[in-house]
Amino acid sequence: MKGIVPLFLGIFGTFAFSWAGLILIPNYQIGHLDPQMDEDGNDAYPAPKSGMAERGRRIYAANGCVYCHSQQVRADDAASDIDRKWGERRSAPRDYLFERPVLLGKMRMGPDLANIGKRAPVEDQNAPPPSTTTAASPAPGTSPSTSPAASASPAASPAATAAPSPAVAAAPSVSPAASPAKAIAAASSPSSAPANSPAAAPSPASPVTTAASSADTTVAANGAPIPYTAPWHHRHLYSPRSVSNDSNMPAFRFLYEKRRVGGERAADALILSGPDALPDGWEVVPTYDAKCLVAYLMSLDQSHALKEVKVTAAPPSSPAPAKEVK
Ligand code: HEC
Repeated sequence: MKGIVPLFLGIFGTFAFSWAGLILIPNYQIGHLDPQMDEDGNDAYPAPKSGMAERGRRIYAANGCVYCHSQQVRADDAASDIDRKWGERRSAPRDYLFERPVLLGKMRMGPDLANIGKRAPVEDQNAPPPSTTTAASPAPGTSPSTSPAASASPAASPAATAAPSPAVAAAPSVSPAASPAKAIAAASSPSSAPANSPAAAPSPASPVTTAASSADTTVAANGAPIPYTAPWHHRHLYSPRSVSNDSNMPAFRFLYEKRRVGGERAADALILSGPDALPDGWEVVPTYDAKCLVAYLMSLDQSHALKEVKVTAAPPSSPAPAKEVK
């Protein structure tokens, strides 16, 4: 029994060492983070989520979105997340300050959603140069960003090339964000090509076009919702394949209510087409849970600069104009 003291010391030492490495040091490093502010104490980031978005977060957790979607952008030297336009910088511990629990994700079946609220709507980039105004370009306030932003946006280039010639739409795309745009461009190919050329603009392609034309910045000229706007999210959740042809994402239809139109069509009724189109007199509206979920998705945005994260290659983008967030 001579070695008993060294044995216990050894065991104790092993535990003490790993405790220090796994708990003490990390806690010292990131255990006391506060929101970051500028010198005047303004511009605090991150901020706690507001009511609907916070409720949406729980719906996100309850429906297992976390099993297929991560919310963490890895650093440039570790992965190609930034090349995939999932974010402009890596995620940092501070980004998750107000999240309990943190929904980092288990696996990546679908794209990372850490910045889904920041993804630029694609319609702006589809619009022709500012000299020509067409039905496709909505109110001026929404698109101060034209060509510079077009090169920076995730889905800009595939969409831009796909619109004029539908054949290109079949080309494989690397960026995951490109797929909805591609699908929409492809779905709209019969009407979008003329709609994008100024000459044909006065003749509306479909009845939906007229309904959606004036001042509605969430619906494209062909009647489909513009990607990453609230109506787009709803349509995607209700029927992922209507947005992305070969999507593996399950449809979350139980978050929506199908009902008879009573009097006027509801303002937030889903824009559905193709196999999802409803018979006359019916509409699908989001439940409160669905609205909260979309509010949450649209609040996901880690684009705010953090002093502890170096952004290596600053993208040439001017930040997209703020979109309406409910
Ligand atoms: C079985 C895996 C799976 C589950 C569960 C799942 N998704 Fe997805 N999701 C995907 C896949 C695959 C895609 C890519 C294809 C597509 O756009 O539909 C995707 C795409 C998305 C996109 C579009 C991302 C982009 O960059 O275009 C959003 C937003 C999204 N999912 C939200 C959700 C939400 C919210 C939930 C939970 C209610 C959820 N997903 C549950 C697999 C999943």
